Amino acid sequence: MTERPVLAPEAEAREEVRRTETSRGRLVEGDPALPAAPASADAVEVGPPEVAHEEVLVLDFGGQYSQLIARRIRECGVYAELLPHDTGLELIRERAPRALVLSGGPASVYSDGAPALRRELLELGIPVLGICYGMQAMVRSLGGRVEAAEAGEFGRTELTLAGDGGRLLAGLPAEQQCWMSHRDSVFEPPPGFVPLAASPGSPVAACEQVERGLYGIQFHPEVVHTPYGTQVLDRFLREIAGCREGWSPASVITEQIASIRAQVGDAGVICGLSGGVDSATAAALVHRAIGDQLTCVLVDHGLMRKNEAEQVVEAMRELGVNLVHVEAQERFLDRLAGIDDPERKRKIIGEEFIRVFEEEAERLPDVGYLVQGTLYSDVIESGGDGRTADTIKSHHNVGGLPEDLGLDLVEPLRMLFKDEVRAVAAELGLSERVVWRQPFPGPGLGIRIVGGEVNAERLTILREADAILQEEIRAAGLYRDLWQSFCVLPVVRSVGVQGDGRTYAYPIVIRAVTSQDAMTADWARLPYDLLERVSSRIINEIPHVNRVTLDISSKPPATIEWE
Ligand code: XMP
Repeated sequence: MTERPVLAPEAEAREEVRRTETSRGRLVEGDPALPAAPASADAVEVGPPEVAHEEVLVLDFGGQYSQLIARRIRECGVYAELLPHDTGLELIRERAPRALVLSGGPASVYSDGAPALRRELLELGIPVLGICYGMQAMVRSLGGRVEAAEAGEFGRTELTLAGDGGRLLAGLPAEQQCWMSHRDSVFEPPPGFVPLAASPGSPVAACEQVERGLYGIQFHPEVVHTPYGTQVLDRFLREIAGCREGWSPASVITEQIASIRAQVGDAGVICGLSGGVDSATAAALVHRAIGDQLTCVLVDHGLMRKNEAEQVVEAMRELGVNLVHVEAQERFLDRLAGIDDPERKRKIIGEEFIRVFEEEAERLPDVGYLVQGTLYSDVIESGGDGRTADTIKSHHNVGGLPEDLGLDLVEPLRMLFKDEVRAVAAELGLSERVVWRQPFPGPGLGIRIVGGEVNAERLTILREADAILQEEIRAAGLYRDLWQSFCVLPVVRSVGVQGDGRTYAYPIVIRAVTSQDAMTADWARLPYDLLERVSSRIINEIPHVNRVTLDISSKPPATIEWE
């Protein structure tokens, strides 16, 4: 990616605007002054946008791995998008995909209300790969025989090729493991199809009709327990559908730069930074596209992790992004005084955040757009077409920015999965700390002080304890393996003994989980010696703490956060 020499010297000379509050919570402007009117986007020099990428559409029949299919295809360097199984034919034709993939699904093709496969989808003149339910629906609609098997197949299953594996499975070992999850099986392929493989419970575990470009597999190539799964997908994409590799973080950046410029024109754009990778990446990308037309606002509510605000400021400064850093800690603390109830804490933090953000937005001239770090998983959680994606994201955003700000949304990460966002972030030059930051709730440490009010002393205790935990986890090389790791401060005190004296102090709870998507989570089996180090450091280094405990609950029934 080419750097932007035109903006760089100016950017280096610029400092972010910093505002601190007075003791009454009023914001006063610091030095230096607000940035001047946005510079023209014409000053930004980037290569011409690449030709739009080829794409594969994955039609979602409700399978638990449908998202994963799209991700695996993208990992093969081909752009894939997940759409509901009943997406209109017109829309599919307009998108002109190179191939279709029909996902698995929980239904039996015979059950009432089973998602139907429209025959027209098999007649678009492009290759179609049916996976699990997708294969069964294809087979059934073309006159093959699908029936309930004596026993279903769930989990690792032995797959045996029939002959050389045909076009789809060519080059695979004659015997291999695969991952199955089905009750019905294909007993006879449709007329004209060739069976390619079998497993103990699936007489036809794969089949194809090369002339019509129709392929089916009973197993799941997208899960890691199918060792040759990626090879099968790759073969389908390249040998059969003729897709070229064209999807990469660099191509996303180039495409998004063009589309952001086209969307916003000369208007001013504002972006709220949370400290997380999504908003930082969205900001960096928009900045690449429109330079000084973008102003970022970091509302520091005093509930962030140790050095978090500084790291974001630093990252943005290095990129030359206009930044308003609002230090509003006291303002938030004043409002949180005396509040024990977690829901009220959340609400207060959210409201105050919006208020501060709005005040900042109003100060900026000609702002027409708001950047949001909405991800593809948010879009598809909302039903695949993104109709309600913004609502979902706003819940999980810092405080949740209201839609009535009167600004149009710029969502440059809308097509990306989290791991792709990290790749784009790295490509854009964001630091390792920002790129790999674990998720952090918008209300921050405010919801990790439980059972009592949030005040400055408790925040200091929690922030310092959390910093020790993170430092030791990083030192042990475990940071990236954990979905989240953090400390919680329950507002209870108990007796201990330190030195010659009795103590009456707080406990700190260590919470560390592994997870794919935060919907479920398992407590992490941290090594004892690591726990030992963390415990003794927290107790020795932080006053007012005399106990460290470990949360060994999974989600469900617990949640990841305490509150
Ligand atoms: P729970 O605690 O429900 O959390 O298992 C699931 C994931 O969501 C994060 N979380 C939040 N994120 N605002 C956010 O931006 C919030 O109010 C919020 N509450 C929970 C949590 O950290 C975990 O990753």
